[in-house]
Amino acid sequence: MLQIRAYTPKDMPALYQICLETGDSGADATLLYSNPKLLGEFYAAPYAKSEPELTFIVEDELGVCGYILATADSERFAKYMELEWLPPLRQQYPITESTDLSRDAAMIRILHQGYQADPSLQAEYPAHLHIDLLARAQKKGQGKQLMQTLFAALRAQGVSGVHLGVGAKNQNGIAFYQHIGFTLLETKPWGLVFGMKL
Ligand SMILES: CC(C)(COP(=O)(O)OP(=O)(O)OC[C@H]1O[C@@H](n2cnc3c(N)ncnc32)[C@H](O)[C@@H]1OP(=O)(O)O)[C@@H](O)C(=O)NCCC(=O)NCCS
Repeated sequence: MLQIRAYTPKDMPALYQICLETGDSGADATLLYSNPKLLGEFYAAPYAKSEPELTFIVEDELGVCGYILATADSERFAKYMELEWLPPLRQQYPITESTDLSRDAAMIRILHQGYQADPSLQAEYPAHLHIDLLARAQKKGQGKQLMQTLFAALRAQGVSGVHLGVGAKNQNGIAFYQHIGFTLLETKPWGLVFGMKL
């Protein structure tokens, strides 16, 4: 039985694991990375750490099988990343040469580049989110329910809108966002940015 609940700090290892197991355009990226934590260090953990009230978990009898996580304010999140989250990781993982084409090296370069909020989205869509469900939890209505749960939490904070980025190869993700009412805001070299007014 699938159930949605609030995040607690003991869920953190599952966030890293699910981020990895959905990290190849929605498919399992486990075999692509030597270090299983690198994806989650950027795309999952800092959100749960800095705004745990905006992280929600899907669980079944086997354990945690999905999450949605977000920041209410992407500019504030960018500052948190620069000042608190990324400095120790940059020490732990020194910058890699651009000639190193491994997925680990590319992810470490992302940790050094950091997160930059898009100023053109800040007024109308200040929040942004990530959502990932393991294969066993997909296509059962949980993605939509997680979205509704997060939207309610963002509305309660008075947030006007939320955006997200999806890689061009993730056709399932793109179709899901379109189906549940997100609007295409921007096309980037790496994929698409969608938004939803709250
Ligand atoms: C993308 C993802 C979040 C969608 O969640 P989900 O639980 O599988 O989707 P749901 O079952 O909640 O679907 C909700 C609605 O969207 C529709 N939908 C879902 N996937 C769809 C698709 N590929 N094409 C068309 N419609 C789709 C469903 O039919 C459903 O419609 P309804 O409400 O009218 O019945 C989930 O599949 C997932 O985590 N995938 C792997 C990780 C990933 O790609 N994350 C996004 C990274 S940007």
